[in-house]
Amino acid sequence: MIKVERIAAMKLDKKQAVAYAALAAEEAFGKKAEGVKDLGGGSFGRAFGVALPGGKSIVVKLLRAGDMLEKETHDLELLRRHCPVRIPAVLFSRRADERVPVDCYGMEMIEGKPALYALSFLLAGEKKRRAFAEAVTDAQYALHQCTAARFGDTLAPAYDRWQDFYRPFAAAVLEKAEEMHAAGDLGEKIILPMRAAWEKFDVIFSEEVERACLIHGDLNVGNIMIGRGYRLTGFIDPLNSMYADREYDLFQFDNLTGKRFFLSETYRRKFGASQYCDQKLAFYGLWNEVFCYIKSGVLVDLIMDPLVKNMGRRLAEL
Ligand SMILES: Nc1ncnc2c1ncn2[C@@H]1O[C@H](COP(=O)(O)OP(=O)(O)O)[C@@H](O)[C@H]1O
Ligand SMILES: [Mg+2]
Repeated sequence: MIKVERIAAMKLDKKQAVAYAALAAEEAFGKKAEGVKDLGGGSFGRAFGVALPGGKSIVVKLLRAGDMLEKETHDLELLRRHCPVRIPAVLFSRRADERVPVDCYGMEMIEGKPALYALSFLLAGEKKRRAFAEAVTDAQYALHQCTAARFGDTLAPAYDRWQDFYRPFAAAVLEKAEEMHAAGDLGEKIILPMRAAWEKFDVIFSEEVERACLIHGDLNVGNIMIGRGYRLTGFIDPLNSMYADREYDLFQFDNLTGKRFFLSETYRRKFGASQYCDQKLAFYGLWNEVFCYIKSGVLVDLIMDPLVKNMGRRLAEL
């Protein structure tokens, strides 16, 4: 089972991080880095573009929590084998040691930038945004065609039924959320809709999930890359990649600006959806965000607020 607890992130100042990224790349390629650029990152990861002599640039990602390196590099390789859209190849992977005291790996640099940061694309005409949704969901559907006999983590799927994995996980998240609520760290705004949704768990999840499909796990617009002319250039940054209910790969689409690109709508129109898909996506989205809050201690209202609202709305439809 996935651990539902706070994860300590290693402290790393920017200057050190830049130096470590350069060192790791220099060691792997036997060449002096010509430049290092901070590409950004979240609670546990930070990515750097490293320019090597000869015009080649790679990305080095530093992982500030243990237990991530093996899974993240494994999942990139696995997804890459099954995805028609580019996913960065892993070029090297190295555990923390005295020289570079943080886990890290190097990967190919994908052209372009995350769709989330392409302001002009957000404002582009509907036709362009719909074409993007087609390209993204076609590639995602190809990933979902890779199935396993069992559900669970890509490294060791162990559950015969999706519910056997998801129910205990959801229960553990709720239990931790209740603890945080009691301690004053999680407000009524969040715990009330969680309680209401939990009451309806057996209805929302009454339909059996037939297939254990490979999912990216964090396919939001921050991890979908676009290049010139808003062409889809790749997917990056898988997280919690699993053999799962394929609809578990859709709730991320609605986070941030995803709705603007009709992503989840397009997938469902083209490839179908289960009876309670709206309720499931609301549940998955809210639970995942609370899970992220539990792990990182960071609450992002911009993401959380719409999830809370959507959960209430979807419950009212039942
Ligand atoms: N392989 C890559 N090619 C190009 N840019 C990348 C690549 N990997 C990461 N980036 C850039 O670095 C940023 C942070 O990397 P990401 O892996 O998404 O970290 P996090 O896990 O913190 O979200 C991304 O938003 C993207 O701009
Ligand atoms: Mg990311």
